[in-house]
Amino acid sequence: MNKLFIFGAIVVSAFAAPRPGYEHYEAAEKCDPNVCVLPYCRCSSTDIPGDLKPSEIPQIVMLTFDDAVSIGNIGYYRTAFNNRKNPDGCPIQTTYYVSHEYTDCSLVNELKANGHEIALHSITHEPPTTRWQNLSVEEHMLEFADEVTLLNQFARIPRDDMQGIRLPFLQLSGDNSFQMIQNAGLKYDSSWPTSQYLWPYTLNFSSTQDCPIGPCPKSSIPGVWVVPMINWKDNHNVSCSMVDSCVNIPQDKEGLVEFMVRNFKQHYEGNRAPFGFYVHAAWFARNPVYFEAYLEFIDYLQKHQDVYLVGVQRALQWVQNPSKLGELEKSWPKCQEVTGNPCKPFACKLKKGEEERYMTICGTEEDCPEVYPWLTNPLGREKYVF
Ligand SMILES: *[C@@H]1O[C@H](CO)[C@@H](O)[C@H](O)[C@H]1NC(C)=O
Ligand SMILES: *[C@@H]1O[C@H](CO)[C@@H](O)[C@H](O)[C@H]1NC(C)=O
Ligand SMILES: *[C@@H]1O[C@H](CO)[C@@H](O)[C@H](O)[C@H]1NC(C)=O
Ligand SMILES: [Zn+2]
Repeated sequence: MNKLFIFGAIVVSAFAAPRPGYEHYEAAEKCDPNVCVLPYCRCSSTDIPGDLKPSEIPQIVMLTFDDAVSIGNIGYYRTAFNNRKNPDGCPIQTTYYVSHEYTDCSLVNELKANGHEIALHSITHEPPTTRWQNLSVEEHMLEFADEVTLLNQFARIPRDDMQGIRLPFLQLSGDNSFQMIQNAGLKYDSSWPTSQYLWPYTLNFSSTQDCPIGPCPKSSIPGVWVVPMINWKDNHNVSCSMVDSCVNIPQDKEGLVEFMVRNFKQHYEGNRAPFGFYVHAAWFARNPVYFEAYLEFIDYLQKHQDVYLVGVQRALQWVQNPSKLGELEKSWPKCQEVTGNPCKPFACKLKKGEEERYMTICGTEEDCPEVYPWLTNPLGREKYVF
């Protein structure tokens, strides 16, 4: 029903003023880089923001992880990232696309306290992918905007600090998830794979990005940023958006590091579009050599004085306000806040339907939800109204 409305509005908008309430569902116009200018507009393009040369700018690296944050994977994050600094002296930063089920909220709080970025990956993460392909704007609100409420309440993450989403299974739904980002006051999506070396851009105007797993957005959705997932190439040149989905990769540490470095150099020796290392911690559990190679690759990155490991929000700050190496404080005024003081955890014993579930939150027993938080009930109230 929602899809029909959108389709109808696109067709209608070519001939008449859009209907009230659907004014955003206008087919996007071609992007003119003289009109669409930073900091609030950018055309989809491989051009470097600010017309700078590759050698003048930092190579931004975005290390991200998807899915539940739990006692099963926090060890990897602590080992890999604690006590590492960027060339400007700020701690390095990574981004976590957190899904709610099985997440330990006190560990999400710990990541935040160590300066990392918390982003959204839905409350349910429920298969099949076709569910996500067909999800309406309203249903996306329940999965993502309500996840902000949930993580704010139980992980004590300030609402405004959560600005980005990654869709489960990277399954886009045309305009819908992007329209939700705008409606919910969020900022960016990082779910859309590409084989072009695109810099992040906004959806004010139509995108030129290739669309390998559609449907892709077609409407103008002003102010929403796309952080493209630039594909890696495995050792048989097969594209992969998440590194753990690359098939033809070596199984020894040296070979793996070479594979990572080769993909990094596509950016570093090219237009320096932000380089993403997108992976699930579950990959490290598959074979210990993957984690050893990952650590060695981060060591390699950190040997470069022009390589910065930052969260996606901070990457966007640079894109919106590009500056040269040596004057990066013009883009990044100060280090992200690191308190190193996580919250006090409490394990709540709850019901999820007939099942028993523990959920660790920040706080005391009084702060526990009454039932396991879920879709339409992010605060886990026993008797809630729709
Ligand atoms: C999603 O939509 C497609 C086409 O619109 C349809 O074929 C499919 O059955 C739908 N899937 C679900 C899970 O609703
Ligand atoms: C793009 O959208 C943002 C957010 O609505 C707005 O501030 C900016 O003026 C828009 N730019 C153009 C050129 O449409
Ligand atoms: C992959 O592509 C690169 C560059 O296009 C080429 O040099 C290399 O030989 C290719 N490798 C394979 C296995 O096809
Ligand atoms: Zn996931």
